[in-house]
Amino acid sequence: MAVGIFDSGLGGLTVLDAVQERLPDVPFAYLADSANAPYGVRTTDDIYALTCAATQQLFDEGCDLVVLACNTASAAALRRMQENWVPPGKRVLGVFVPLIEALTERQWGDNSPPREVAIRNVALFATPATVASRAFQRELAFRAIGVDVETQACGGVVDAIEEGDMILAEALVRSHVDALRRKMPTPEAAVLGCTHYPLLQDVFQAALGNEVKLFSQAGLVAESLADYLTRHPDMLGTSDGCLLTTGDARRVSDRATQFMRREMVFSTA
Ligand code: DGL
Repeated sequence: MAVGIFDSGLGGLTVLDAVQERLPDVPFAYLADSANAPYGVRTTDDIYALTCAATQQLFDEGCDLVVLACNTASAAALRRMQENWVPPGKRVLGVFVPLIEALTERQWGDNSPPREVAIRNVALFATPATVASRAFQRELAFRAIGVDVETQACGGVVDAIEEGDMILAEALVRSHVDALRRKMPTPEAAVLGCTHYPLLQDVFQAALGNEVKLFSQAGLVAESLADYLTRHPDMLGTSDGCLLTTGDARRVSDRATQFMRREMVFSTA
């Protein structure tokens, strides 16, 4: 049995870490589509095709449930996959909804009309494709009214992280926070809307200032998955846990080990 976790690259490891801690008895099959990362600069059709192919690989591994631990795939492909592609008996979940539930302080399945919430000004940091999709604003509008969202497409950050160039990644984060502040000088909250960004959470927080509440997804997704599996214990699948990449397994293992500060050995998908 295993639950599939998918990301274009290393960012989903921030989610993997949290779900493993929250659900220590559940094995996870992680797939990084490193050969095609980053997704955030691709077209919607491209992201859809790549995400379907990667998810199919995890189904073929024996997973019945796959979590897209990738905002770009969740924003650009998930709805279309759920409507047109996911085979019977399989499920695909994304990372947006748990985040928005936390931001709006609403419980899972609360389908009451949108209402005013405590937070008024939110900064969203995400990939260019996630920002362009407006999926965050759309999901938010189902639940909350009166929230002003300012977005910042953080070009280059994912590439720098995947290359292991953290000095460049940090410099880019600072300049993206500056750019956001020129549009929204005093956000109350900021959303790290890319699973790579928690690897730079301290840099975001320092650049934004401690008065800005940071929302990042890993812990929220872990809680939401635990809740889902309690309600659907039959979705654990038949696979054993594994770490797979479509890229160079050795290189990806080295980077993952560096980021997670524990040994991570990937095999070629
Ligand atoms: N970690 C991803 C996300 O959450 C993917 C970024 C990318 O491949 O550009 O959006």
